[in-house]
Amino acid sequence: MADRFLLAAVMGWPISQSRSPMLHNFWFARHGLKGSYVPLAIPPERLEAALRALPALNFSGCNLTIPLKQKAMAIVDEVDITARTIGAISCVVVKEDGRLAGVNNDWYGFVHNVLEFVPDWRADAGPAVVIGAGGGARAVVYGLIARGAREIRLCNRTFERAQGLAEAFGDAVRVVRWDDRHAALDGAAMLVNTTSQGMVGQPPLDLRLDKLPTTALVNDIVYIPRETPLLAAARVRGNRIVTGLGMLLHQGVPAWQAWFGVTPQVTAELRAAIEATL
Ligand SMILES: NC(=O)c1ccc[n+]([C@@H]2O[C@H](COP(=O)([O-])OP(=O)(O)OC[C@H]3O[C@@H](n4cnc5c(N)ncnc54)[C@H](OP(=O)(O)O)[C@@H]3O)[C@@H](O)[C@H]2O)c1
Repeated sequence: MADRFLLAAVMGWPISQSRSPMLHNFWFARHGLKGSYVPLAIPPERLEAALRALPALNFSGCNLTIPLKQKAMAIVDEVDITARTIGAISCVVVKEDGRLAGVNNDWYGFVHNVLEFVPDWRADAGPAVVIGAGGGARAVVYGLIARGAREIRLCNRTFERAQGLAEAFGDAVRVVRWDDRHAALDGAAMLVNTTSQGMVGQPPLDLRLDKLPTTALVNDIVYIPRETPLLAAARVRGNRIVTGLGMLLHQGVPAWQAWFGVTPQVTAELRAAIEATL
């Protein structure tokens, strides 16, 4: 591998906001590897041509971001059971014969980010409340169930979308009406925001925390800003918080293992370098 120039990419539309190039190019430098990770602005109608070009261009693979994660499922040659369950591909791996394999590492990023902040975290410690039912929520619910969660209260503005998610994930997921989201926090051991609310340019998530036990862990998968209004409010009332950037950082680890056979580390230095740009 020492003589090979390693290549990977992130495809999205738009793509300029992505912190992935900074993450992966940090790891190339840290491992002393010759390589590059490039942001590619790919509109959905060009995704198939872009993915099919990867083997000829010597790319080991790519990540996918909004709005391409679902569409890629119908393009790649194989989709593993995890990505199929989550319903989205976050990472494409170019196999030796040029075939494209789709996997989803977002759930891994969610779980390992929480474990980095709270090493003794147990998803089966009590009910988890998940706000939102989009692609991020599906990865979070998958991760919670993989870690043994027995009760997930799922609450989304559009009720039917939450119902669809619950049907895919089985009995552990209980759908809660949007109007009941404040009360759903009663007795919860964990709260995760997976909506885009609280992201820069968006209003804060409209959620009253008064019913949430102060022992509950609060995570927001939104990472711009570093600390969302939800996390700030939770911290002030004494809850332990887990910021969202680490979900992005940790999902890169299995991607590197699959692309390059290397296990990179999520270090404080890496986190600080990327947080400085948020
Ligand atoms: N940290 C990470 O690595 C990571 C990974 C994935 C995603 N994310 C972040 O997570 C967020 C969601 O991403 P996604 O891929 O799941 O998006 P998505 O599939 O488009 O889902 C968006 C979610 O936000 C909800 N929502 C949007 N506007 C709302 C509003 N005004 N009030 C209440 N709910 C609202 C949607 O509810 P409806 O169904 O009612 O529209 C839906 O549940 C984004 O900010 C993204 O950057 C972070």
